Amino acid sequence: MVKESYYVDKSVCTKESFADLVTVTDQAVEKMIIDSLTQKYPTHKFIGEESVSEGKKCDWTDDPTWIIDPIDGTANFVHSISNNCVCIGLSVNRKIVVGVVYLPITDQMYTAVKGQGAFCNDKRISVSKVSDLKNAMVYTEAGNSRQPEAVLTKIENMKNIVFASHGIRCLGSAAVNMCMIAQGSGDAYIEYGIHIWDIAASGIIVEEAGGVLMDPSGSEVDFLSRGVLCASTPGVAAGISKIIKPVEFERD
Ligand code: IPD
Repeated sequence: MVKESYYVDKSVCTKESFADLVTVTDQAVEKMIIDSLTQKYPTHKFIGEESVSEGKKCDWTDDPTWIIDPIDGTANFVHSISNNCVCIGLSVNRKIVVGVVYLPITDQMYTAVKGQGAFCNDKRISVSKVSDLKNAMVYTEAGNSRQPEAVLTKIENMKNIVFASHGIRCLGSAAVNMCMIAQGSGDAYIEYGIHIWDIAASGIIVEEAGGVLMDPSGSEVDFLSRGVLCASTPGVAAGISKIIKPVEFERD
């Protein structure tokens, strides 16, 4: 569905800001995933980006829950940039146990199951060995909020990271950025403003590839807190935590 609609004109609507985009394809893909999983697992719960934006509560319980972003990198999809992906994570007792991130345009499938390693198109992947921020390539994003204070703090954080590292990269999708860390194409990713559906599937892929996943402050990851930091090693993560300022977003 994503591939078919990628090459045609998209009908675009906005959500929380004029840069927070949704298309009929996001909604149709989410419905298709929920409908097919419900047939197989009728008692399981769902958290889906578009269902939440249409008013469903983001209720994360201990029950088996599928956490879905039908298109992560919707702005890329709208602008015909191939870094967009379908993200599906499964949590049990609020721990992520399975993650799948699929880039339909480039046909790359990243997968992880708790305790079984991380893969891209069935080939095992692992994080880099970089342990010092000054030798690291860091992914981050401006995000899609246009609240002046949030944007300016993010730009300040980007400036601090540039001065402390090999540079920054922005691929326009939280999950694609995290898969880059998982496969060793860069060493850290930090963002405030993301949601649980942006990071659930890719989070376990980073961990199973040997990386670390945490809150940007350095404390334990909180999937509902709207902030995430992942890195190849604790050393790189600590270097970033030290130089960034928090950006406040309402919890999921
Ligand atoms: C967005 C992308 C983007 C990130 C935003 C996310 P969406 O997800 O991951 O890279 O900067 O914070 O909301 O809206 O395309 O699913």
